[in-house]
Amino acid sequence: MSGAATGAPTGAETSMDPSRYPHLFAPLKVGKRTLRNRIAHVSMTTRMSADRRVTDSLLNYYASRARGGAGMIVTEPVSAARFQNAPHKVRIWDDASEAGLARWADCVEREDCRLLAQLQDPGRGRHERGRNPDALGASALADDLSWTVPHMLSLDAVERMIAEMAESSRRLERCGFSGVELSAGHGHLFHQFLSPWMNTREDRYGGDLAGRCRVLHELTGAVRSACGGSFIIGLKLPGDDGIEGSIGPHEAASVARHLLSSGWVDYLCFAQGSHSYALDRHIPDLHGTRAPYVELTRRLKEELAGIPIMALGLITDPAEADAILAGGAADLIGLGRPLVTDPAWGLKSSQGREADIRYCVSCNSCWATITEHRALACDNNPRVGAIDEVDWWPKRAAKRKRVVVVGAGIAGMEAAWIAAARGHDVWAFCAARDVGGKTRLLSRLPGGEALSSIYDYQALAAKKSGARLELGMRASIDDVRSLQPDAVVLAVGAEMTWPRAMPDLWRETGCVLDLRACMLQMLEFSERQSGTAVIYDRDATEGTYAAAELLARLFDRVVILTPRDRIAEDVPLVSRLGILRRFAFQGIESITLVEVDETSRLEDGVVGYQNIFTGKAAEITDVALLTYASPRAPNLSAFRGLANETEIHVIGDAYAPGTTMAATAHGHRVGNTL
Ligand SMILES: Cc1cc2nc3c(=O)[nH]c(=O)nc-3n(C[C@H](O)[C@H](O)[C@H](O)COP(=O)(O)O)c2cc1C
Repeated sequence: MSGAATGAPTGAETSMDPSRYPHLFAPLKVGKRTLRNRIAHVSMTTRMSADRRVTDSLLNYYASRARGGAGMIVTEPVSAARFQNAPHKVRIWDDASEAGLARWADCVEREDCRLLAQLQDPGRGRHERGRNPDALGASALADDLSWTVPHMLSLDAVERMIAEMAESSRRLERCGFSGVELSAGHGHLFHQFLSPWMNTREDRYGGDLAGRCRVLHELTGAVRSACGGSFIIGLKLPGDDGIEGSIGPHEAASVARHLLSSGWVDYLCFAQGSHSYALDRHIPDLHGTRAPYVELTRRLKEELAGIPIMALGLITDPAEADAILAGGAADLIGLGRPLVTDPAWGLKSSQGREADIRYCVSCNSCWATITEHRALACDNNPRVGAIDEVDWWPKRAAKRKRVVVVGAGIAGMEAAWIAAARGHDVWAFCAARDVGGKTRLLSRLPGGEALSSIYDYQALAAKKSGARLELGMRASIDDVRSLQPDAVVLAVGAEMTWPRAMPDLWRETGCVLDLRACMLQMLEFSERQSGTAVIYDRDATEGTYAAAELLARLFDRVVILTPRDRIAEDVPLVSRLGILRRFAFQGIESITLVEVDETSRLEDGVVGYQNIFTGKAAEITDVALLTYASPRAPNLSAFRGLANETEIHVIGDAYAPGTTMAATAHGHRVGNTL
């Protein structure tokens, strides 16, 4: 493992100044160990292992978070009992794993960061499509989300699991790990044992509180006796799982109190939600408040004196983290997504370089990547898992070039700042008055606020690296030619296409606008309008649903018409559940499997639609607004003449309309190859 690249604009140092955020950078005693600060990386599945073993990218990922300032890291879940054999989890129950485990521990621990492995099993929980035929559970009761019915673990099997997990913990300790976190959060197996809703066992692992806590209690004890007294044992417990009759805040306090009575536990943290319609609560986004679980954590902490407690959930800002600690709501700050987005979050915070942090935008694309069985990736960090991720700054190019970037959306801006930082002369043309393109519009819609961090970071980096931004200027081919570029980056984006189902007349008269143009107008309104707003949705991405929520603030009724069989299909499930919940509360309606009827009498406020299979027709009356979201298409015709004159790179939506992640990644790649 070589050292991190530290060519940041300020000549980044790796030392931390604890006086910056005195509470965040104060040491903390956890069990018999002392953490250098209060920043804890919470467990997140990375899918960076291969064939059940550690890989270089997995080691890079964890080493970077340690080097970047975390005082403690909890790994992704590992396979610690022999029945656990998932190919994407590191297997730790055999001796063959030891060399990999030792490398894992070494690359983190050498940075003065404590490494803990997370032990858990999903049990019946599943957030992918379909059911899990191999699931084991506390009881043969269906998962609340996937309806997977697990095979109930026998008494013998439970005892074996506890013994094997304790033996695996001893192996971890031997290999240099500082501890384990036993996770009973998020609806996983141990949570299933704890919850009266999920556990109807009649043996000693069910029944009353003591019975339901017994698995975790015995496991904690087995790990404590297998490992030394300084081996950290943490528990992730449900704080409020969102299921009636399961574990709410009161039960959570009772469970925690019971488990702490042994004296074997060194810290606690509380997760929210479960494998149910409350799944979205475990990864909160900005449709709610920032740090939404801090108050609950504070209340639980008041009841559980004497044990370090970690706050987690959408804590993204160092000042916010410091204030949580200062106010006594928690002792440790757990960061998941913010450390995916910037491994040097701690380092930069301690150096007063908060503006250099690439902040989490709570889009949950990271969650989408792992549930689609890809390696963890991020909209606002194109380098997750790269060896040089900490405080990365581009390396100088061998030859200085004149580079023109047309379009200053997030793809163009990413390419522009990187190219400039590599020493090229860069001009970036932006037709709008501000950079950010469609991401800027999305950031103005409900829940989108944090997206501004993507282009704010890029704009700052562009300024530092000397890229010239030509704002409010729609460049022509002659403008580009006049700069005599060695390379041109076309990042001109893509426009929503006119839906075939709608008559051309509506376009010609301008009475129907695409959703983006419509939103630009609607953002100017604050007074409520009477009538119904209809979105004809052939896009199915988050922007459509955020727009619907804006319209719901303005119109009497909002209806989404879509030929798809359900809405928000392309949105990560955790966020999709949030959309469905908010739509239910706001009364936003959706009508699926329909196309807009081209004979609709728009002038009379009537939009007709037909079932895509049967053609059966119906209509919405009192329509005050009809808009559409549709697949986008790039328009590069204005620059076609450049093809034989210079090196051309077409990036982002202009290359292939796609996601935010695809746009930043593409800009990043091309910026680095110029
Ligand atoms: C991509 C992703 C994967 C996660 N995987 C796990 C996991 O395997 N085990 C676990 O206990 N929590 C997991 N979590 C939940 C986090 O540990 C944490 O509780 C949650 O993300 C809230 O913290 P944050 O707002 O700082 O991201 C995951 C979260 C994300 C975003």
